[in-house]
Amino acid sequence: MCGIVGIVGRSAVAGRLVESLRRLEYRGYDSAGVATLEAGHIVRRRAEGKLVNLGDKLAAAPLDGHVGIGHTRWATHGAPTERNAHPHATDRVAVVHNGIIENFRDLREALIAKGRRFQSDTDTEVVAHMVSEELEAGRDPEAAVAAVLPKLTGAFALAFLFDGRDDLMIGARRGSPLAVGYGRGEMFFGSDAIALAPFTSTIAYLEDGDWATITHDGVTIRNEANAVVARQVMQSNASAFLVDKGNHRHFMAKEIHEQPEVVSHTLSRYVDFTTGRTRLPDDLPFDFRGVRRLVISACGTAYYAGLTAKYWFERFARLPVDIDIASEFRYREAPLDPGDVSLFVSQSGETADTLAALRYCKGAGQKVAAVVNVQESTIAREADAVFPTLAGPEIGVASTKAFTCQLTALAAIAVAAGRVRGELSEADEERLVTALMEIPRYMAEALKREPQIEKLAKTLSKVEHVLYLGRGTSFPLALEGALKLKEISYIHAEGYAAGELKHGPIALIDETMPVIVIAPHDRIFEKTVSNMQEVAARGGRIILITDPKGAEATGVEPFETIVLPEMPATIAPLVYAIPIQLLAYHTAVSIGTDVDQPRNLAKSVTVE
Ligand code: G6P
Repeated sequence: MCGIVGIVGRSAVAGRLVESLRRLEYRGYDSAGVATLEAGHIVRRRAEGKLVNLGDKLAAAPLDGHVGIGHTRWATHGAPTERNAHPHATDRVAVVHNGIIENFRDLREALIAKGRRFQSDTDTEVVAHMVSEELEAGRDPEAAVAAVLPKLTGAFALAFLFDGRDDLMIGARRGSPLAVGYGRGEMFFGSDAIALAPFTSTIAYLEDGDWATITHDGVTIRNEANAVVARQVMQSNASAFLVDKGNHRHFMAKEIHEQPEVVSHTLSRYVDFTTGRTRLPDDLPFDFRGVRRLVISACGTAYYAGLTAKYWFERFARLPVDIDIASEFRYREAPLDPGDVSLFVSQSGETADTLAALRYCKGAGQKVAAVVNVQESTIAREADAVFPTLAGPEIGVASTKAFTCQLTALAAIAVAAGRVRGELSEADEERLVTALMEIPRYMAEALKREPQIEKLAKTLSKVEHVLYLGRGTSFPLALEGALKLKEISYIHAEGYAAGELKHGPIALIDETMPVIVIAPHDRIFEKTVSNMQEVAARGGRIILITDPKGAEATGVEPFETIVLPEMPATIAPLVYAIPIQLLAYHTAVSIGTDVDQPRNLAKSVTVE
């Protein structure tokens, strides 16, 4: 989603704005721009496409203003062209914006009726005109912004630069995140701590409804009622993470390879490695013994982590789970019982639909818990209980390590819930925890299949459609495999429960159709074999991911078999995720797509 940065500085800011925007690239964008004050007046440079295009424009026509705003835009209203790129400006004010101004049509019509001329198709430009009107009426910048904010509906973050004012900048947050950065004699705005990392690690997150004025020496934060408020100033650890690719070609490759390590970090939060026991946070605001139903909501890959967890919670804790895609749940008006707990899963902690679902549940008096990777995020702050994942910053748009860390946390929480509810004995718990502790080792083993997978990906890169099949916890992984492949390689892929094959997708099978079957040799392996036979009988090219026992027992001749070690069934979805991710990655590399920033996708989806 769109990224925002702002600097009230003491030296030229254009280069630093672009440096910060580079850190925000991971959010996904299709155009970019900056505005600074040159001799007191607003001057913009904007470009379609990647930041190098903006860099070229700045090289050809440099800016040296000491105050400025920057933006990476992920198109919502209007095509990703230069004229729609931010900042949007009048001769009095320039603005950058993340999110959506929902009532922009009415506002725009009213402004046009008053004779205002628009230069873009965006919702953002109305904000520039509205603030301009207030300034023209003689208001100062703060009064102008204060007059306009209540007229806007929707979820957004904004940063304003004012003509003739190199000593101040205003930012506002409603729904979409915005942080204030504290420097020495300089102050900053940024969409997140990663954007601010090149400048400072001392930050404060604005809360919903807040707006803030920064000057060279400090910040004044006001809430929705315009009362001056104090927000917690914290030290962010975003700069401690090297946001580089190490010796990998892409962030995605680096993140796939980091999994044994980050999964073990995450696990250490939920299990005691010495006693073999699970542990839940002490201050959990509910007791799993009294929970009647768990209601899980999430989006994208996080939703598939939740879907896998349904199998675990129901099996280990005999706890009924309802799971929904957050964008469906939020409008479904689902009946919620006081005995339910809602659980949200999110890497970024900022996904608009997941956040809205959380607020719906909170509003209904539910206890809400969240499995979140970004601890300073809105979802983490609004949940009653947070189950952190310790994946570190995930930069590749396609989620990999965040997914397996979500699975790790969820598996451990399900075992802990099973124990608390008396469904698992101490010995069961010990056995399951031992299995969880083996995940990193099996993951490291799975990573060794990379050369085989890289070769196979060359074949896969030539096809147009791929089918993924799995049963039990391999079913959500089949969905995730298909999502991963289509996200980054743009090959059409579908995931199905293997048993559903004969209810439709079998019609697609011919000799051109690769079918990726995820099938560890578990208690339902034989059922999957029957489905594989149905594929083989119709000439489909089977790519089987299994273990040595499975490879022996198939009774069909797959086109290719990826053999992983035999492992406890509970941890299979985590380890089998690795070949699934590697296959998507190498297929995309072989096709030559932009793996880390696939077209049209965003890392943090802050619009609905
Ligand atoms: C986007 C990302 C996905 C992610 C989904 C949910 O679509 O590209 O990788 O799974 O959002 O994001 P969240 O941050 O809530 O996990």
